[in-house]
Amino acid sequence: MERTFSQAIGQVKTSAVRDILKLTQSSDVLSFAGGLPAEDAFPVEPIRAAYDRVLARGANMLQYGVTEGVLLLREWLAEFLRGKRIETSADRLLLTTGSQQGIDLIFRVMLDPGDRVLVERPTYLAALQALTLSRAEAVEVDSDEAGMRLDDLEAKLTRYRPKIVYVTPTFSNPAGKLWSLERRKGLVELARKHGALLIEDDPYGDIRFDEKLQVTSLYELDAACEGGDGSTGNVLHLGSFSKTVSPALRTGFAAGPGDVIRTMAKAKQASDLHSSSIDQMALFELMTGWDWRTHQRRISTMYRERMEGLTSLWKGTPWEELRWNQPMGGMFVWVMLPENMVASELLKIAVQEGVAFVPGDVFYAGEPARNAMRINFTHTPPTLVPEATARLARALQRYPQ
Ligand SMILES: Cc1ncc(COP(=O)(O)O)c(C=O)c1O
Repeated sequence: MERTFSQAIGQVKTSAVRDILKLTQSSDVLSFAGGLPAEDAFPVEPIRAAYDRVLARGANMLQYGVTEGVLLLREWLAEFLRGKRIETSADRLLLTTGSQQGIDLIFRVMLDPGDRVLVERPTYLAALQALTLSRAEAVEVDSDEAGMRLDDLEAKLTRYRPKIVYVTPTFSNPAGKLWSLERRKGLVELARKHGALLIEDDPYGDIRFDEKLQVTSLYELDAACEGGDGSTGNVLHLGSFSKTVSPALRTGFAAGPGDVIRTMAKAKQASDLHSSSIDQMALFELMTGWDWRTHQRRISTMYRERMEGLTSLWKGTPWEELRWNQPMGGMFVWVMLPENMVASELLKIAVQEGVAFVPGDVFYAGEPARNAMRINFTHTPPTLVPEATARLARALQRYPQ
């Protein structure tokens, strides 16, 4: 039977990342493609003990819960965020099914068909997908290694009057970028001036390679503008435990102004009633009964070493023609190939050689750069990295001149 799906879903680009992941799961392809944390970093035993403690609390742990999420975890989270100078409270926090659901909900409650959203160039693919499902249109703002260029941002705020500016200012996916303080301040001021809500998507901020590095969130800068605590603010801060604890817990959160959080909760009711309360309780038990600070430091060190180990192999032929920035945190290196190379063509040769990456063109809302690739450095075990790198080098050498 022929089915007619909505126009919006027809326009959603399928995630090339997922297609590639499927390929690599069924063969002996080594993959730098997925945005996966290292499995040897998962705290398996502490999580097992946390679930045991939850179930020992009784059968009501298996009952329906409130849409906003488990109160004990929200209260803990408010303190955790205070430690990062993000002032909020349990009633201005919404627990979500990963931070991805936060992105989806805020787009759904704010956007009408044809609305414009300003995004970085490049930006997070699944945010573009959620935006398309909301029948909105992404408009790219020129960006460099310090963040969005403020002149282009102001021009596009004036021209398109977007309701939302969506950014990942701290160790972005895909570019591994850290925005400068000056650009952060500029963005916060301009968004306020033009009445656009700022979405600060921050799943990677706690994977920081230099412990002393100070990062000021957009949320904090915005709260300082109004001299308050963010309750009447203009920033929705999205966070996640996927990268620092485990993505399988599917626990993320949104912190923001009360009216925004309440409206998102209303949409969440229609979407899934609430996210898994047993997982949220287990996370509460975990975080209150375990040294998560040491864990965060351990994985940050581990990922820094993996990033350095990988990029230290990119020397001599054929690597001298490639350009990349050493990221200061997160999970990705963004590599520029020579102008005449097309990353998606290189991928075909790479897969024949037994290695995968994500071609950068999928991360653009506008005209893509075709010679970029995203390399994940957290998931491939260090013992396999030299072989994966050698395969990629062979693919680069086989690329037709
Ligand atoms: C920039 C960005 N935002 C949000 C997410 C969603 O993560 P999760 O739903 O697991 O919290 C990801 C996952 O890769 C991401 O890279």
